Amino acid sequence: MSLPELYTRFVLIDRPTTFAGDNVYRKEVLPLSNLKPGPGQALVKTLWLSLDPAMRAWMDDRPNFLPPIQIGETVRSLGVGVVLELGPDCSFKVGDLIMGFIGLRDFGIIDEATTDVIRKESYHSHTEGVVPEDYLGPMGIPGLAAYFGLYDIAHLKAGQTLVVTAAAGATGSMVCQLGKQAGAKVVAIAGTDEKCAWLRDDLGCDVVLNYKSPTFQADFEKDVDRFDIFFDNVAGPVLNYMMTRLRPNSVIVLSGFISQMNKEKPEGLTNYVRMVGMRARMEAFIITDYRERWAEGREVIAKGLADGSLKRRFEVVEGLENVPRVYNRLFSGENKGKL
Ligand SMILES: NC(=O)c1ccc[n+]([C@@H]2O[C@H](COP(=O)([O-])OP(=O)(O)OC[C@H]3O[C@@H](n4cnc5c(N)ncnc54)[C@H](OP(=O)(O)O)[C@@H]3O)[C@@H](O)[C@H]2O)c1
Repeated sequence: MSLPELYTRFVLIDRPTTFAGDNVYRKEVLPLSNLKPGPGQALVKTLWLSLDPAMRAWMDDRPNFLPPIQIGETVRSLGVGVVLELGPDCSFKVGDLIMGFIGLRDFGIIDEATTDVIRKESYHSHTEGVVPEDYLGPMGIPGLAAYFGLYDIAHLKAGQTLVVTAAAGATGSMVCQLGKQAGAKVVAIAGTDEKCAWLRDDLGCDVVLNYKSPTFQADFEKDVDRFDIFFDNVAGPVLNYMMTRLRPNSVIVLSGFISQMNKEKPEGLTNYVRMVGMRARMEAFIITDYRERWAEGREVIAKGLADGSLKRRFEVVEGLENVPRVYNRLFSGENKGKL
């Protein structure tokens, strides 16, 4: 492969206080020869980049499971790429497909320690039904968060009522489908009629509700009433409301807080007091903590992708330069599936 002389990256130049607009990024075009892999590193060419809600949290100067992105640094993002050159002691092979923290750039350096090789032999024959970009969706952070959130945090059992927010998104759609496969009654909550129709007609969710409807709470009380497990990707007012719909010993899996991410001050919860009488539990988790067990989740998910029992949608935008323009689709809900 003949390589260009220059590569492009987006660096963070300001910390957003609300939505990350154009003003927080700067595009830089630099000599590719600057990118030299060190020990345990590799030079990769980007094939796909993942736009994740977590990137917005990493732009804040607050403690998180990864350090804040520093001003002047490449904006951190996951991606799928192909290995071009190896640093000393890197066990990858030139030509390997990888999934790791490439950042918003068309060529990047990745660390072997935090990068997965996507090889056919890694995931058995099921890999037949899996495409590389799946490692940013169902086979990546969103799908694995669904799997471990449901099984390790919520201890999901057949017959339970499972409520899911941002249900048509990358994470939520996997939660819904894994929940159905496990025999739960799945209540999917999303923000557009199109997404609600997909959840009902294509994914087979039992109850589908639009949280933007003026009758949302009345509909919930009529069609669902109470739940055993609430897999919450959203937080804010819907979480506060769900705290009034607990069953005894119910579990709230706090996966994310997308409704609060662009706020300087998150909205407070008032109904948490109901958790005491219901002996309820709320537990947050970060999927990178399960890295040693990702293969277990991928085995199940790959099988579902291969036999068609698990479905996924992607919202694909061509061109690195479009990232600042399209990133906020995650927060407006314009993305239909993994962005
Ligand atoms: N804990 C973990 O390790 C972990 C791992 C992966 C993801 N997550 C979390 O999972 C959540 C979903 O992430 P994703 O990557 O799968 O994104 P996604 O669901 O594919 O896209 C985000 C969706 O969130 C919904 N949304 C945006 N703003 C909202 C608001 N104010 N109120 C309600 N819904 C809103 C929108 O759908 P509607 O049109 O339906 O509003 C939007 O399409 C995020 O909170 C993320 O941080 C956590």
